[in-house]
Amino acid sequence: MDIRQIFSNNERWIAEKLKTDRNYFEKLCLEQKPEILYIGCSDSRVSAEELMGVQPGDVFVYRNIANMVPNTDLSAMSVINFAVSHLKVKHVVVCGHYQCGGVKAAMEQADLGLLNPWLRNIRDVYRLHKTTLGKIENEAEKYKKLVELNVQEQCVNAIKTPDVQKAFKERALKVHGWVFDLRTGKLKDLEIDFDKILKDIMEIYRLD
Ligand code: CO
Repeated sequence: MDIRQIFSNNERWIAEKLKTDRNYFEKLCLEQKPEILYIGCSDSRVSAEELMGVQPGDVFVYRNIANMVPNTDLSAMSVINFAVSHLKVKHVVVCGHYQCGGVKAAMEQADLGLLNPWLRNIRDVYRLHKTTLGKIENEAEKYKKLVELNVQEQCVNAIKTPDVQKAFKERALKVHGWVFDLRTGKLKDLEIDFDKILKDIMEIYRLD
């Protein structure tokens, strides 16, 4: 791809937007009020807005390798703080995807330098669910399951933050765990039972 192509694409996009609404960019300048915080993988094939069919202004997006929410990551914590406590989103979504390179790398024994501490977070998920994963013989199925369990654990990490805990008390905030399937394009709701998980984890992680 010629990088200059991006600028002609941008001109075409501006023209298309203005054709349907002359005031499109004036409206875009107004305060943002997204109702969803989307935490997804940086994978170039999993384009958040496009797969959800949403428009600019609809979703606050945060992406990193393997859709992680480590509590020591200032970037992830700042995004949650801003989206939940300031923008007051109604939904927090952690969206993983099958064929995730980050999850795959964490399953393999390899020294990946700077990526080691990041992928260690996924290895911790593996250790936490070793019994469940150990029962799955098929490698492809195990890989899929780890993608799902990683989504679940990152949702739990989001719930551990003071911002989400405070919001749970004050208003109707929901946390969702989703998985995108590259093979079919389908978005799947893992329908994680957060009431149950919440009860279990709050015993340990309650902040007040
Ligand atoms: Co990925």
